[in-house]
Amino acid sequence: MIEKVGVIGGGLMGSGITEVCARAGLDTVVVEVTEEAAQAARAKVTGSLSKAQSRGKITEQDVSETLERIVFTTELGQLKDRDLVVEAASEREDIKLDLFKQVGALLEKDDAILASNTSSIPIVKLGAVSGRAGSVMGVHFFNPAPVMQLVELIPSLTTSPQTMERMQHFVGETLGKQPIEATDRAGFVVNSLLVPYLLSAIRMYEAGYASAADIDKGMVLGCGHPMGPLALSDLIGLDTIRAIGISMYDEFKEPLYSPPPLLDRMVDAGLLGKKSGHGFYAY
Ligand code: NAI
Repeated sequence: MIEKVGVIGGGLMGSGITEVCARAGLDTVVVEVTEEAAQAARAKVTGSLSKAQSRGKITEQDVSETLERIVFTTELGQLKDRDLVVEAASEREDIKLDLFKQVGALLEKDDAILASNTSSIPIVKLGAVSGRAGSVMGVHFFNPAPVMQLVELIPSLTTSPQTMERMQHFVGETLGKQPIEATDRAGFVVNSLLVPYLLSAIRMYEAGYASAADIDKGMVLGCGHPMGPLALSDLIGLDTIRAIGISMYDEFKEPLYSPPPLLDRMVDAGLLGKKSGHGFYAY
């Protein structure tokens, strides 16, 4: 049984994954780099729970009980007794390799699972440095994690079948989400289909085919999508889309995965979408 969970990184995804685990009744420890970042993670989880309460999805008692199950810390050592650790630190290979080496060595239970929420870094590389490759796999949540039902599960060449089975049970039964299985290739299922579509919309806008509003309106009213590709790019974060596109291009050398110059320029200018207040639209 997975009862004690750890989350590394309390950013956009880490705070959401923390909320999902604590709402499922699990004892959850979140590790951040600084005290301020740990406090910011607490504020994100608290804000999201308050929003769920104001929408009538949970009670005031649920909010306080959920928060009581979470410890926010800066000490990786607090993860040692965990059954599962989900790494959701920044999408940088050097950071993740260092974390998998350290955390792989400190986990006390032989069958403790170390999973990464990475969107594009090969899981097999994280397993190789961890010293426990059979217990390492990818678990890819979607933003916002408390709302989105899908979770991609990614076993690598070295992940054991028992690890995969335990995670299938954890995601499907304990968290009540919908798992799908994907191979350890950059992009997995959803980003492999979504990212080239978003990059094509950016290229279309860059070439002056149509205005941003009309490209989005085309896909919302013409295809029944809840949101157009440029608004969705702003929501995901233009830096994140660029990073995933680069990883996918590195892996497959497929031109459609290569970020167009306009996306590079916008990221260089700090126009990252909704999170920076400006992207294809102003917020
Ligand atoms: P973010 O930038 O919001 O959060 C990353 C957090 O990691 C920051 O708070 C940072 O302080 C912390 N961090 C960095 N190094 C650390 C370390 N050594 N120990 C502990 N904490 C550390 O990034 P976001 O968007 O939450 O992404 C996290 C991961 O989730 C990435 O691997 C990303 O590819 C993946 N992801 C992102 C999605 C998105 O829509 N943004 C969707 C699905 C996965």
